[in-house]
Amino acid sequence: MTVSLPLFAAVPLAARDPILGLNEAYQADTNPKKVNLSIGVYYDNVGKIPVLSCVQKAMQSLMSQTTPRIYQPIEGPAAYAQAVQKLLLGADHPAIREGRAVSAQTLGGTGALKVGFDLLFNISPKVKAWVSSPTWDNHRAILEGAGFSVETYGYYAAATGGFDLAGMLRDLERAQPGDIVILHACCHNPTGVDPSAEEWGRIIDTVEQRQLVPFLDIAYQGFGDGLQEDSEIIRRFAERNLPIFIASSFSKSFSLYGERVGALTVLTANADEAKRLLSQVKRAIRANYSNPPTFGAALVSTVLNQPDLRALWEEELAGMRNRIREMRLMLRERLSARAPDRNYDYIVKQRGMFSYSGLSAAQAQKLRDDYAIYIVESGRICVAGLNASNIDYVAEAMAAVQKD
Ligand code: LMR
Repeated sequence: MTVSLPLFAAVPLAARDPILGLNEAYQADTNPKKVNLSIGVYYDNVGKIPVLSCVQKAMQSLMSQTTPRIYQPIEGPAAYAQAVQKLLLGADHPAIREGRAVSAQTLGGTGALKVGFDLLFNISPKVKAWVSSPTWDNHRAILEGAGFSVETYGYYAAATGGFDLAGMLRDLERAQPGDIVILHACCHNPTGVDPSAEEWGRIIDTVEQRQLVPFLDIAYQGFGDGLQEDSEIIRRFAERNLPIFIASSFSKSFSLYGERVGALTVLTANADEAKRLLSQVKRAIRANYSNPPTFGAALVSTVLNQPDLRALWEEELAGMRNRIREMRLMLRERLSARAPDRNYDYIVKQRGMFSYSGLSAAQAQKLRDDYAIYIVESGRICVAGLNASNIDYVAEAMAAVQKD
């Protein structure tokens, strides 16, 4: 006999997560031809998630030391925070020199968003938060969880498959001073569409003029055009007189998804502000998960702080970036051959792991039902899941569902 508990009697079944839920369905699929183009994970050319050599070397060196697993500082180790700042801002950026930058280790980029949003809601509960249309689904969930009401700004121009600058600026005109604007610093998720350097100039001007608070999410640094190039927008924002929040992640760039290694960085006006902000960051972390885990960040810190390992990492990251580019070119070529009347240039213009394919939810469902190809319902494809063995199968299936 099943006993029902009154507390749970009316609890509804929550909707499956649009990304992680699909990943679970993929894992359970027994079709040998299945292809996972749903979650933002990099697979190599034989369909494996790589363990980077730089990470293996760092792992060996860490495993040979028997350090006790004591509690870390709430904000994580200083060596990690410094390495993060150098990677985001460049080694001798004035914000680092002047002690105006605060960084804390977080549970992946998601943890950085959560800590940053909690902190912001604590100091500024009346403001709104603005996200791009579309954005990564979890942005809204984390913002609302922190207490914010969320508005959207125009971003993706469906007609051209490009960026809608006019729509974005028009919507941001409605934002009030102090409102938070979530921006993808590079490799926009889910569209892969990034503003040009000039367009970013207009966005930065608007954010500054309207006194908005930029919150830059950078989960794919190194997957667009390079480590330096992909963080350029952070440095351009840092030239302005603005408070800046940055959520960064090493999940993808180190292929360390399960270690949950990320950081929250806040750029302030002076060292005194930085001290006060750090105290608020620590407060938010303590109330969420007390302090961060040791191993993943130690791996990243070891690689970033040892010149030979750092050089190896950059090489391996470039390898991943270049393979994704090749897959973009191949996918465009394969699709154009099958549907010559359609223009697939958007695939090679988009940046990072994702391509917004323009496929409808029904077409995405058909790909999954008929071909065991998993893409997100929005039409987002993870190009990093393509390889020489599955690309023809995927192109064939995509062209077929687009014809139906
Ligand atoms: C994605 O967008 O697929 C990744 O960022 C993974 C995730 O947590 O959703």
